[in-house]
Amino acid sequence: MLVLANDNREISGNTAKKLKLALIFGGRSTEHEVSCVSASCIIKNLDKTKYEIVPVGITRDGDWLPFTGPYDLIPGDDWIEYARKENDCPRHGSKRCLDKALRAIQSCDCIFPILHGLNGEDGTVQGLFELLGIPYVGCGVFASACGMDKTFAKIQFEKAGLPQVDFIIATKATFENDPGRYAAAVEGSFGFPCFVKPANCGSSVGVGKAENAEELTAALAEALKYDSKALIEQYIECREIECGVIGNDDPYAFAPGEVRPVDNYFYDYDSKYVDGLSECVIPAAVPPEALEKIRKLAVQAFRAIGGSGLSRVDFFYKKDGTVLLNEINTMPGFTECSMYPKLAVADGLSYGELLDRLIGLAFSRFEEDKRCFK
Ligand SMILES: Nc1ncnc2c1ncn2[C@@H]1O[C@H](COP(=O)(O)OP(=O)(O)O)[C@@H](O)[C@H]1O
Ligand SMILES: [Mg+2]
Repeated sequence: MLVLANDNREISGNTAKKLKLALIFGGRSTEHEVSCVSASCIIKNLDKTKYEIVPVGITRDGDWLPFTGPYDLIPGDDWIEYARKENDCPRHGSKRCLDKALRAIQSCDCIFPILHGLNGEDGTVQGLFELLGIPYVGCGVFASACGMDKTFAKIQFEKAGLPQVDFIIATKATFENDPGRYAAAVEGSFGFPCFVKPANCGSSVGVGKAENAEELTAALAEALKYDSKALIEQYIECREIECGVIGNDDPYAFAPGEVRPVDNYFYDYDSKYVDGLSECVIPAAVPPEALEKIRKLAVQAFRAIGGSGLSRVDFFYKKDGTVLLNEINTMPGFTECSMYPKLAVADGLSYGELLDRLIGLAFSRFEEDKRCFK
């Protein structure tokens, strides 16, 4: 594939100049740590003959800091002290840090925002990159925002006729006015047990199971600490299967894999991200028809939110073989133990080739989107 830099230099193949790639990692969300581990894994796997990497970290309190120190400082957050020193930004909140970070990013040909959750995967930084006019890896503003807000994603999936878990959208205002209302709604529809999650969190933050009205009130109070909206869903006994999608207008789904948590009643934060607490089985040990169905649904879900670049689409697989769409993650984890790169590798790509592909897709979307300005 031919890849062009901002100034039309050809970057792929045997060219002298490397593509300058801003790798933005960290961030304010609960997935800060995963993002840092993903970033160091991406750095390890990027072809250094093709790319000049420009790492820019975001601290947990939201400071943007260019980082030129040793890469092995990234996963443990030791990069922060180093970057604060090298940028002369010792304290939180210095505007100078952001200025420097933006200048570093603007010198790049492409951006890879390996950021999860709020302010990373929700369309906000994607909006900034659009304004900067630099190609970036992953979904655009709308798809990112829609994928992040589970209530809007559900509405899009419903419109597209995709099978998913029954749900009720709860708002903080209504819950505070009439706490019993949602218990009545659950009893009048799918019944208990049910599952509650904040609309916009991720990493299983604020999620919980409720067996009865009292537990539902407690679960809603917890979920609504994190957001002004929550989803109440029918509780599903199931296995969890994840499918990686790659592409822009013609998305392709890798063969799905199964996540098996070890010793947890649901797939929670620790079992998801702490190595050794979950295992990936690729391809998922389900009948071939189910694998094919999941691949098809994953592409449909990706299209339903207007996805581009990549996403990981997560499913529930019930004992009777029913497949239900759970959620879409527009910037999945990229650590050694993350499902998305594992699915790509199982499909025949190397980790490095996967990164090349995603960067190539960023350029092709950028070229297509530019047409609107003519
Ligand atoms: N309706 C449900 N029934 C049973 N378990 C659920 C349900 N929804 C979510 N879970 C469990 O909670 C985990 C987190 O929920 P999910 O919707 O994937 O949110 P996120 O990963 O963004 O936190 C899932 O991986 C699954 O283990
Ligand atoms: Mg999930």
